[in-house]
Amino acid sequence: MKNILSFINSNHSRYLFELKELLEIPSVSSQTRRRPDIYRAAKWLKNHLKTIGLKNAKIIETGGHPVVYADWLNAAGKPTILIYGHYDVQPEDPVNLWKTPPFDAIVRRGRLYGRGTADDKGQIFMHLKALEAFLHNGGSLPVNIKIVIEGEEEIGSEHFAGFLKKYKKMLKADVVLVSDSDIFAEGIPSVTYALRGISYLEVEVTGPNSDLHSGTFGGAFHNPIQALSEMVASLHDKNGRITVKGMYDDVKPLSKNERTAFKKLPWNDKFFAGANGVKKLYGEKGYSTLERLWARPTLECNGIWGGYTGEGAKTVIPSKAYAKISMRLVPDQLPKKVSKLFERHLKRIAPRTVRVKVRHLHGGEPAITPIDSPGLMTALEAMAKGFGKKPLYQRDGASIPIVVDFKKILGTDSVLLGFGVPDENAHAPNEFIVLDNFFKGIKTLVYYYKLFPEFQKMKKC
Ligand code: BES
Ligand code: MN
Ligand code: MN
Repeated sequence: MKNILSFINSNHSRYLFELKELLEIPSVSSQTRRRPDIYRAAKWLKNHLKTIGLKNAKIIETGGHPVVYADWLNAAGKPTILIYGHYDVQPEDPVNLWKTPPFDAIVRRGRLYGRGTADDKGQIFMHLKALEAFLHNGGSLPVNIKIVIEGEEEIGSEHFAGFLKKYKKMLKADVVLVSDSDIFAEGIPSVTYALRGISYLEVEVTGPNSDLHSGTFGGAFHNPIQALSEMVASLHDKNGRITVKGMYDDVKPLSKNERTAFKKLPWNDKFFAGANGVKKLYGEKGYSTLERLWARPTLECNGIWGGYTGEGAKTVIPSKAYAKISMRLVPDQLPKKVSKLFERHLKRIAPRTVRVKVRHLHGGEPAITPIDSPGLMTALEAMAKGFGKKPLYQRDGASIPIVVDFKKILGTDSVLLGFGVPDENAHAPNEFIVLDNFFKGIKTLVYYYKLFPEFQKMKKC
């Protein structure tokens, strides 16, 4: 172990140099013009996996963006860890708000800035370096490893369940290790045991069948932007509760134990509000902020548009207005059901002056990993060693829908051992990863590979 850890310590600048190359590839999964970059990123990873000594490195087609796979299965009699990550990234827009170019990763004040540094290229790369540290210092791993890196996570992982079904045998493992989440805060390491699910929909409201002169026609027609705004505004009541009928039917109340555990976490509403530039927080009455963030459903309008938004003034009643609505889900809500409830509700509240269409974009179920599972206990111990500090348990409000697919299709629990921080600007301008977490994270992963077989054995006894 000692030589592996000192190998990591003496390779910091090479790591950053290599990672910079991967971060320079703008592998944005949602944009057709970036298709070649998606392939470049996949190829880069395949080659890197080969270089560090993994076997069977290959690019596997899925019908969408490809998955990169590799393995190392020479640890006879030892369990298998399946590492999951994604090489696709979110668009860099609004690009003018970046202080340095999004695809030219740069170190500033102990942080590495660039799109994908935290979500998720930087975190996959940490696994590659942890694996390399073993293979370069003794030529073997203490555990069997399979690794899958997908290219569609940021657009809903449409083809990933199909991939899991097709390659079920090849992917058999004892635990799925996912590094695509955050620690509680800088200096406060934590392990995540639950994520929210998601239902994502697009609403189209049509008024008159063509744009109308707002002088000639204004006064006789319900402007679809107004109608849509009225509907969207009515989706929360004065207590911040979602008004969609049936929304809370399947919500499992938080256990007393969990509520108490949340209360013990270091938290300050005022600080949280101020850090994000507001005077006061908003949310469902009767729940603490952490409860609302992690264990209560929410509904957001992610975007709303219609009519004239170009230069200068134009007088018009637009024919159409649109909104993108997402709902975060908690156990035992199911995305298909919630999406239907939303559609039904919206059609019911729609005034007769307009027509409403709802399109379902994507969905994912909420996920919980038992906190006494060997995979999670390993994470706690590995992080304690890697960070030199006992980590907390936390839930998270964000979603990684494939976690439930791993459970349903492979029967395998996932462990969320991530190294980002909540204010890392993921999906936003100036995304970064804290370098201290990056290097401690690599060590944490080294301990994880080393310790997992022991915790797994304890379970079997
Ligand atoms: N890495 C995030 C999820 C995440 C972030 C988990 C922080 C825990 C802490 C992932 O890439 C992501 O952005 N997921 C999407 C889901 C999706 C279906 C597009 C999300 O949560 O919005
Ligand atoms: Mn991610
Ligand atoms: Mn993301």
